[in-house]
Amino acid sequence: MVSESDVNRDESWMARAIDEARRAEGDTSPNPLVGCVITRGGELEATGYHRRPGDDHAEIDALDNLEGSPGGCELYVNLEPCSHYGRTPPCVEALIEAGVERVVVGCIDPHPRVDGDGVDALREAGIQVDVGVLEDEARRLNRPYIKYITRDVPWVSVKYAMSLDGNIATRTGDSAWISNEASRQRVHEMRDRCDAILVGTGTVRSDDPRLTARIEGGDDPLRVILDARLEGSLDETVYRPDGQGADTLVVTSEDAPSEARATLHDRGVETIDVPTDSRGFLAWQPLLEALADREIVRLFVEGGGTVVGTLLDDEHIDCVHAFVAPKLIGGEDAPGPVRGLGAETMDEAVEAQNVELESIEGDVLVTATFDHRSESSD
Ligand SMILES: NC(=O)c1ccc[n+]([C@@H]2O[C@H](COP(=O)([O-])OP(=O)(O)OC[C@H]3O[C@@H](n4cnc5c(N)ncnc54)[C@H](OP(=O)(O)O)[C@@H]3O)[C@@H](O)[C@H]2O)c1
Repeated sequence: MVSESDVNRDESWMARAIDEARRAEGDTSPNPLVGCVITRGGELEATGYHRRPGDDHAEIDALDNLEGSPGGCELYVNLEPCSHYGRTPPCVEALIEAGVERVVVGCIDPHPRVDGDGVDALREAGIQVDVGVLEDEARRLNRPYIKYITRDVPWVSVKYAMSLDGNIATRTGDSAWISNEASRQRVHEMRDRCDAILVGTGTVRSDDPRLTARIEGGDDPLRVILDARLEGSLDETVYRPDGQGADTLVVTSEDAPSEARATLHDRGVETIDVPTDSRGFLAWQPLLEALADREIVRLFVEGGGTVVGTLLDDEHIDCVHAFVAPKLIGGEDAPGPVRGLGAETMDEAVEAQNVELESIEGDVLVTATFDHRSESSD
């Protein structure tokens, strides 16, 4: 019989494995975040985590960090160990060879080349395997990876800063700055943890943003600009990468003039074409699939309202980070964060599954996740 203290002990080691996994947040795409803890007789023996694609998986890292013999140990890992040759050999082989006594798994890896096979292989080798410890937390940690693997599109997080009266700029388009410095610092951390930042051409023209992760050791994600017609001057910063940091990918349509395309190519800016939809905008589904083809798992959308509006209308928003600043802007013509067609009645409004609130030196950060496919709470 499994006692309550056994359950608590398993959950606390799994929580530690999840903490280990988080250390590589933003560095592992297209791989998942995975952490591992090895114990013996209830004592911690070693920890490990997966740092980046091509590096050791978490289980192997933890085994490497173990000083004694792994025989008879218990191993906690938030995601099912892999059973196939990818960039590295299968972890289950290493665990069997090491003589681990018990493996505790947070959640199954939905990757078609794993999907339960790792657990089966361990059990066939006589290892006790328990699956589903802190399963919700383990799945939440890897929601971007799970969506990418099961639906072939990135996880879409939207971020905006708005005033207390729901505006993201003044009536003249001025938006520097709505949120405070600490909130803006947080945005740089969020950028560092994503694979690509996406904005519409309206934001590029009005704000001329750099869209880089300006924190110590920060990695600049790919900058993705939606510009179906390439009608502007192309003088803005994102259209002129300096070859030192962030790259830019301009998503455009076949209507874009070839001279403008050539100008961008000469500057080292890549362009891809996607079809336009009935609204005349670039169609989201092929666009997101094209980004997933480039192994973009975590897409961070920074506006503006037109882009976020069509994303909502097409049911692609997975997460919103709304920085709410205690300021009033007012004005009929001041823009809100989400345009598009929107809901006709309140029944059609999309409700969040999870909401977290955080106070950031007077601003409030609201983080909410959405599942357009299910009406149940998570
Ligand atoms: N406070 C904040 O957090 C924040 C953040 C960002 C922006 N802003 C403010 O928002 C304003 C700009 O927002 P905006 O709504 O005018 O422009 P936007 O959303 O940045 O860009 C819209 C443009 O993107 C292009 N586009 C291509 N495919 C699209 C698609 N699938 N869906 C939507 N647009 C698509 C369209 O131009 P083409 O047809 O030419 O391709 C469209 O007109 C500025 O005032 C800026 O300061 C504030």
